[in-house]
Amino acid sequence: MRGRALRFSPVALLLLAGCTGTQSALDPAGKDASVLADLFWVLLIGATVLWLAVNGLFFYVTRIEPRSLSRRLAETLVIGGGIVFPFFLLSGLLAYALSIMPDQRLEGTGVQIRVTGEQWWWRVEYIPEPGAEPIVAANEIRLPVDHRTEIKLGADKFIHSFWIPALAGKMDMFPGRETRLAVEPTKVGVYRGQCAEFCGEAHALMAFQAVVMEQDEFAAWLEKERQDAVMPASDLARQGEAIFLEEGCGACHTVRGTEARGPAGPDLTHVGSRLSLGAAVLPSDREAFADWVRHTKRIKPGVKMPPYVHLSDEKLSALSAYLEGLK
Ligand code: CUA
Repeated sequence: MRGRALRFSPVALLLLAGCTGTQSALDPAGKDASVLADLFWVLLIGATVLWLAVNGLFFYVTRIEPRSLSRRLAETLVIGGGIVFPFFLLSGLLAYALSIMPDQRLEGTGVQIRVTGEQWWWRVEYIPEPGAEPIVAANEIRLPVDHRTEIKLGADKFIHSFWIPALAGKMDMFPGRETRLAVEPTKVGVYRGQCAEFCGEAHALMAFQAVVMEQDEFAAWLEKERQDAVMPASDLARQGEAIFLEEGCGACHTVRGTEARGPAGPDLTHVGSRLSLGAAVLPSDREAFADWVRHTKRIKPGVKMPPYVHLSDEKLSALSAYLEGLK
């Protein structure tokens, strides 16, 4: 028995640890997510009460008071416990669950964000006002705190699902059809989002960070994001820029302000300022850039970008210096 208890405790700890953190629907940091967390607890309590009542009754009649019941009592138990009680309990829970739906569908105001699910990364476009030129980014979503932001969702070729558990529920992303979701973060911080619909070999590696910022910081950040890329600051970075253009990286990637205008891959104009690389699979430092460029397929199986194994260490370090400097 002792051995079993010991084996049980790490598992219990692990399960409890799953309830907190940057990617937990039960540790909400957004209005919609906290309503959903309440819904979870109410349904869980409802289910537990029902389970205890049914099993308690079963235990009572089989172990504690095992006698034959009068027909009347038996019928009352079957009709009362089997029809009337579940009807009222489940209707109550259903009414509660339906009552929270309208709020979940409220639209956002201000900056809109369009997110497109690609293989296997996220194209992110900020639209400051209707009709304005979108500010293109990738693999990271920045949001102002205490403000409801509208997110329009789409997909390139496969169905994905957009989910930031700490902020809101999930929403599917379809090719050729727009779905929507609004989020209203209540706490500044960095939360993890994850594709929640199996979409191919790198599905599990399709994640991103949602960065919730103070409203004025967000406005300043967006203004900076709108600018063209900064000029390389060192000789090494300048060499890196030349290698970037020579190797044809600009056929797929855009670095605004340079001749690289490729639309197929993630926009790299400010890639050095993001918190992660490769849709949240690597940190964003010089080493990670080099690792990614040389081992794309090993790091993310199925990714379209070929690994640049032919680049010498010197060229690779210049290229990484350039990319890391794109703040
Ligand atoms: Cu995209 Cu799973």
